Amino acid sequence: MSTQTAAGQAVLQDALQPAGVQADTIFGLWNFTLALCTIVFAAIVLAFLYALWRAPRGTPESAPDLAPLAHPEKRVHRTVLWATVIATVGLVMLLVADVWTARALARLPLKEAVNIELIGHQWWWEVCYLDEDPAKRFTTANELHLPVGRPAIVALKSRDVIHTLWVPALHGKRDMIPGRSTTIALRADKQGVYRAQCAEFCGLEHALMALPVTAEPPAQYERWVQGQRQLAPAPDSDSRKRGRDIFMGTTCVMCHTVTGTAARGTLGPDLTHLASRPTLAAGMLPNDRANLQAWIVDPQRFKPGANMPAHPLPGPQMHALLDYLESLK
Ligand code: CUA
Repeated sequence: MSTQTAAGQAVLQDALQPAGVQADTIFGLWNFTLALCTIVFAAIVLAFLYALWRAPRGTPESAPDLAPLAHPEKRVHRTVLWATVIATVGLVMLLVADVWTARALARLPLKEAVNIELIGHQWWWEVCYLDEDPAKRFTTANELHLPVGRPAIVALKSRDVIHTLWVPALHGKRDMIPGRSTTIALRADKQGVYRAQCAEFCGLEHALMALPVTAEPPAQYERWVQGQRQLAPAPDSDSRKRGRDIFMGTTCVMCHTVTGTAARGTLGPDLTHLASRPTLAAGMLPNDRANLQAWIVDPQRFKPGANMPAHPLPGPQMHALLDYLESLK
């Protein structure tokens, strides 16, 4: 599947167009399995057609042919024996290919890996970029950036129910289990935007839990990281200042964090650099002013069951709030 970002960039969600070494290995296993199963299927259909063609033609009046019961055919025994041997060999070949693939996937070199913690929520993704230096850590939401050619070790957790991370263009699936930490190592080898989808039914809006993964050249990635490490920019106009005061004075502040301000909520996504993200509501809406307003006014219209309450603010207040949120680049 391929769609487009607001910027017109193609977004790929396709295991058959691998963009990383691991997805490529899995693609190889898929091709092998498909080829082998196609051969088996064709052989069975041919054998079936041959049997039909050879079978004696009877009419409702002709007597049943009971001869094979009295003298079992040697050829039938031999054919069944060979078919069993061939089927066993085929299954063993699939097993060997599967084990080989699993080992190849686990051998991804992890030198200079980016360390990320990804936490599943109903129905969004919390993303923490880790660093030995706590001052260099930062948190974002609903988007992942990876430098092309460099591995990433992603620790997977969940705050509520079981979710599953699946970026088909980069790797297979891995569960995110409450109370446990699993990890997955990924490497993107081609620049692009790859859509990840939660692949475990996790409630009402499971299908709307997507995660755009941007694989970009290392220099561009570093620029993004530097930007994300900054505190939220202070409002630089009256309207934005009013917007910030509205943010801090309503329920927004109870669930969201904006670094450098009093907003430290952790129930909802970190909004420090909201305006730099490609989408709203976990890959659901392109991130623009109209969608942001519609989402704030009535999130339930888009994602019934989401924890975010409706905020039908009066016009001038809403515009100031949008001015402020759009300044969080
Ligand atoms: Cu989260 Cu399905």
